[in-house]
Amino acid sequence: MIARADTTAITLNTALYYSLKQPIIWQRLKSEIPSQDSKSSISATSYKNSRNFPYLNAVVREALRYHPGVSMLLERNVPEGGLNLPDERHVPAGCVVGMNPYVLGRNKSVFGEDADTFRPGRWLRDEELETEEEFQQRLHLMNNRDLAFGGGSRICLGKHLGLVEVYKVLATIISRYGISFVDPTRECFFVRQSGIKLKLSSRT
Ligand code: HEM
Repeated sequence: MIARADTTAITLNTALYYSLKQPIIWQRLKSEIPSQDSKSSISATSYKNSRNFPYLNAVVREALRYHPGVSMLLERNVPEGGLNLPDERHVPAGCVVGMNPYVLGRNKSVFGEDADTFRPGRWLRDEELETEEEFQQRLHLMNNRDLAFGGGSRICLGKHLGLVEVYKVLATIISRYGISFVDPTRECFFVRQSGIKLKLSSRT
């Protein structure tokens, strides 16, 4: 059972990390979400209120696209009769096929030439460049290609709970705390490594 915790944590990490890396994104989040005394007895921002922040919504959507919690093939068995691909190739029944949400999220024909950049603005209408109708069409295309929670009968069972957690946590901590990297420049005489995991076993 690997569901639930890691995917939610990865989404929160991605949203925070890439927003803090680009001060313009972080500033916009801070100006959208009103500040709250960190010692206030008021409980966490409600999910309903956290959904009222359009830029926060754009950041969450972008985090799920840019660094989806599940970045391997979402496998499916080809049923009886096989599968006809759009390019007319045929995949026989019994084969395992799949799509990778990470790869799909970087599709430039859907998300734009800057698909390799973390840019929440793509989830909002660019009022200088597109009409409301054009934006809705673009949004529809992006929504249709979004596999961050998978799709079909095996779609993530915790999608709604996961989203509640992500929106509430982000809105609450942004409203209450100033957040910054401990060492933004990472300038150091030594080039330290981190995150390397090794396994030792007996040689004899
Ligand atoms: C941001 C948070 C989350 C993300 C990005 C995420 C993503 C995913 C993805 C991509 C799958 C595979 C879907 C497929 O094969 O089509 C999945 C499956 C699943 N997820 Fe999540 N998940 C999240 C949160 C949660 C939470 C909070 C729970 C439970 C409380 C949960 C429970 C499950 C379960 C049980 C499955 C297996 C569904 C099945 O195979 O029928 N997930 N999730």
